[in-house]
Amino acid sequence: MIDEKAYREALDEMLRDPELQKMKQYYQHGGNTYAHSVQVAEAALKLARILPFHVKEKDLARGAMLHDFYLYGTNDMTYTAYQHGTRHPRISYENASRHFDLTDTEKDIILTHMWPLNFTRPPRCRESVVVTLADKYCATREYRRHFTRLIKNRFFRRQ
Ligand SMILES: [Fe+2]
Ligand SMILES: [Fe+2]
Repeated sequence: MIDEKAYREALDEMLRDPELQKMKQYYQHGGNTYAHSVQVAEAALKLARILPFHVKEKDLARGAMLHDFYLYGTNDMTYTAYQHGTRHPRISYENASRHFDLTDTEKDIILTHMWPLNFTRPPRCRESVVVTLADKYCATREYRRHFTRLIKNRFFRRQ
C-alpha cells in the first residue's frame, strides 16, 4: 500500500537534485547508475502497490535513489566484483550522508540492499525489503539486456 502522489513528489525532488545527477556519468550494467536508480525507484513503486502493508513513501523514494550513490564506474574500479558488491553499500551511505539528512529507514535501505551477499546485514524494515527486491529485479533485467546486446553485436552484426 502506498500513497503514489506522496511517492512521486519525493521522487521528483530527488530526480532534480544536482548531486544525484552526478550518477549519470558512472557506468553500471550497460547503462549508468542514475538510470539504474530510477528503474529501481519505479520497480519499488510497482512492488509497494501490491503489498498488503503500508510503506513510508518519502523514505522509500529517497532510499531507492540513494542505494547506489557510490560515485564510480564499475568499468573503472580497482575492486573485484565481489569487493564492489560487499563494499559499495557503505560507500553509498557515506556519500549520501554527506549531502542528505538521512532517516534511519533510508540508512537501512542503503546499507542492507546487497543482502544476502552481505549476509550479516539483512534488511531491518519493510522499505529495505522492497528496495533489495526491486534492485535484484532491475539488475537482472539490465544484465540480460546488456549481454543480449553484446551477443547480437558479436555474432549477428552485418559487416
Ligand atoms: Fe547496489
Ligand atoms: Fe542497485
